[in-house]
Formats: sequence, C-alpha cells, structure tokens
Amino acid sequence: MRSHKGFSKSLRLYEEALKYIPAGVSSNARLWANPFVCSFAACTIFIERAFGSHIWDVDGNEYIDYRLAFGPVILGHSYPAVHRAVHKADEKGTVYGLDNELEVKLAKLLCRVVPNAEMTRFANSGTEATMHALRIARGYTKKEKVIKFEGHYHGAHDYLLFSTQHMPFTANIGKPHPQSLGIPEAIKKLVITERWNDFERIEKTVKKNHRHTAAVITEPVMGNAAAIPPKPGYLKHLKELCEKYDLLLIFDEVKTGFRLAMGGAQEKFKIKPHLATFSKSMGNGYPIAAITGIRDVMEIIGKGPGHVVHGGTFAGNPVSMAASIATIEELRKRKVFNHINNYGSKLMRGLGDIFEKGKISAIIQGYPGMFMYVPTKKKEITNYRDLGACDVNLCGRLQYELLLRGIMIEEDFEEPMYTCFSHSKKDLQKTLATFEEAMKAAKIPRSAVKAARFRK
Ligand SMILES: Cc1ncc(COP(=O)(O)O)c(C=O)c1O
Repeated sequence: MRSHKGFSKSLRLYEEALKYIPAGVSSNARLWANPFVCSFAACTIFIERAFGSHIWDVDGNEYIDYRLAFGPVILGHSYPAVHRAVHKADEKGTVYGLDNELEVKLAKLLCRVVPNAEMTRFANSGTEATMHALRIARGYTKKEKVIKFEGHYHGAHDYLLFSTQHMPFTANIGKPHPQSLGIPEAIKKLVITERWNDFERIEKTVKKNHRHTAAVITEPVMGNAAAIPPKPGYLKHLKELCEKYDLLLIFDEVKTGFRLAMGGAQEKFKIKPHLATFSKSMGNGYPIAAITGIRDVMEIIGKGPGHVVHGGTFAGNPVSMAASIATIEELRKRKVFNHINNYGSKLMRGLGDIFEKGKISAIIQGYPGMFMYVPTKKKEITNYRDLGACDVNLCGRLQYELLLRGIMIEEDFEEPMYTCFSHSKKDLQKTLATFEEAMKAAKIPRSAVKAARFRK
C-alpha cells in the first residue's frame, strides 16, 4: 500500500472555509458524513487538480477517480479534445446574450442521437433542466400535480426535492417527505410520491390522480440510489400509463444520459419519453444541460400568452456548447463506449468475485458506465426502501479503506461508481487488487484500526 499522506491540509482548508462558506462547502452533497472518514479526516476533501482518470487532493494524495464529480466526467478529466474546443471558443468571448451557431449545431446533434429529441432547449444544470421540464409539462397539459418516485433526485429546486434520501421508511409511500426547510406546504400538495418498480401501485396512483397530474418524472435507472435498474417492462408500463391517462412522461437522464448509451436510457430501453433532461456527461465537466422533447410539446415554449417561458443568461453560451459538441463527437466514436463497457463490465465482475471470496453476500447492480455494490442478504434490490437492508457500516469502512489506498469512490454508498474513457488497464488491476486489500481491512473492528493507524 502506497502510504497516504493524511488529510491535514484539507482539514485546515475546511476549518477556514467554515468561517466564510456555510457548512464549509459549495454544495451539500460534498459534505461527507461517513463516520469512519469523519472521525479521522476532514468532512470533505479539497482537490488540487485532476487529469484523465486520476485526481489529486491538496495534501498530495493521488486517487483513481470513480466519483468523476458525481458522473459528468465521461471521457476523463481535462480531456484534450474538449479542452481544445473550449479554449478555441472562449477566445471569441464567453457569453453574448444572443444566439450563436454552436447552439444550432449542438441541437441538431442531439436530435440525431437522442431518440425523443425532436427539439432541444439548453440550460446550465440538471436542477434547471428538470425545473423547466416540469413547467413545460404543466403548461402543455394545463394540470399541476406531479408524480415522482422515492429515492429519485431531480435537483435542488422546491418542486421535486421530496423523498430523495433518508426519509422515514415507516412513512406512507404516497406521502412526500420534504428534504429541506423552506419548501412551501403549497408545493408539497402538488407532489405525489410513489414506490418505483411497482407496476400495480403506479397504475392505481395514475388512475386516481390523472385529472390533476401533468407528468410522471423518473430516473430511468436510479442514479441516486445505488444504480437500481428498472424491472423489465417497467418503463414501458410508465409510458403506456401516461399515454392512456394523458400525462407526460419525463425521463430525468441527467445521470443516465450518455452513460448507458449514446442516446441515453431511452435508447437502451427503447422507450421514448415525451420530455427528457440531460446534463452531467454531455459536457464532460462543463456546465451544460438540455431539455429534449417531442415537437408538439416543446413548441409550447415561446413568448407571449399561451406559451411557457424558458430562459437564462448563460443558456446556450458558446463555451458550454463547444464543450458539449466536442464531448458528443468523441462519444460517437465507437471505441469510447466499447472501452467504457469493457472496463466497467470487468470491474463489476471483479468486485462480485471479491465479495464472494470475502464471503459477503452482495449485489453488484447497474451498467458498466454507472454501477454500485450493495452488501445485503436480499436477493434483489428494486426500490429505495430495499436499500434499508444494506450493510451501511461495511460500505462506510470500505470507502475509507479505499481512500487510504488511492481509490476514490463517493462516501454515500447510494451514489454509483462511474467509469470513463481514460480509465486504463493499470487502473483496473490496481483497483481490483486494492479493493481486495480494503475489504480485508474493512472487516477489522474499527477500534483496532484507530489504535493502530491513527496514534500520533
Ligand atoms: C438525476 C439527476 N437529476 C438532476 C440533478 C441535478 O443536477 P445539478 O446538480 O446539475 O443541478 C442530479 C444531480 O445529481 C441528478 O442526479
């Protein structure tokens, strides 16, 4: 094991940040709560740089990166073709407040590769995209309620920040659980939460509420809940229900977009939603998002009475457009998906073998570009509540032991591991060897680890 240099500089920066930035981070998701990490290290790690499949923290520790910034980095950090395209664009200015040719080029490209994209509007983040998609659905259907699923995260805006995480599992399934203070009660009344992958429940809920419900929004694979896949036929069932009862189906492809296939989950599962949202991987790390949809629905966007407003100062800015065009052009080269599929499949199989060898029952679920292990005695995990039966302690210990050995995964085991085009054969070998070591270490009682390693 290469010796880890500790987290002292990260810790100092974190303490300094606490004085100026609430909770010391710019996004709550970065605030680690893993008790194993937090008892020895900073509550968040500060990064100095990232290149290819590797990332370096401010203490000089190098990691093979499987967080990849919660998914966006699909080609590799600072990927040359994207880097060049961005710099070529920013020499001509970064934002015009008027449209540019790159927007048309990217919209055309998306319409070619994404099955439901007859038209596209651009935004800058996943939060913005889902917020606008919901408004489009409401404007188009003239209905106000929305059905979402437990454990599905669609961004930080008020409309959908319900029952995403850590909700009381004893609560009624249909009862939306707000994830933040400050979300108005009036908005809660517009949200219906359901259990995912349950054919009968959703059918009853749609039947009962369709007169007032604009849309069903779903992540096609649970990208915020350990990559739980849809049951065969479930996404088709959602589409059929929406068509039958006059609701719109929205796929939130912010995570699945370009990770499952060139045309996202809708291509992989052959289901065309009425609307879809993309972000993360479409810019390989640059801030960009898109709402794609069928023409009839998208044409509700416009100016004046009878239209839906969508806009943004930075929407369609040439730098993000250039990043996304370069990313998608790279992704269209067959070798990129071949590599990700090959690398991810080997890693998934290897992790499965390690759990088996360690005599720990676990499910490895998801797809080669986005997957997770779930140590559990359950035979299958099909919805968010099933994750309650996961060995959270083992996940926490594993993450920490991996971190010490140069492998970066997210501390929250509900966040999948991501693979990218820059992960190499050497990364794979090191990851599997390290994982085996980390697994052994994770089984040692925590008190013994603390005494042995952190006596200073
Ligand atoms: C499925 C999904 N939708 C929306 C979002 C929000 O995206 P952003 O963080 O860019 O606002 C996320 C973020 O993780 C996500 O996973």
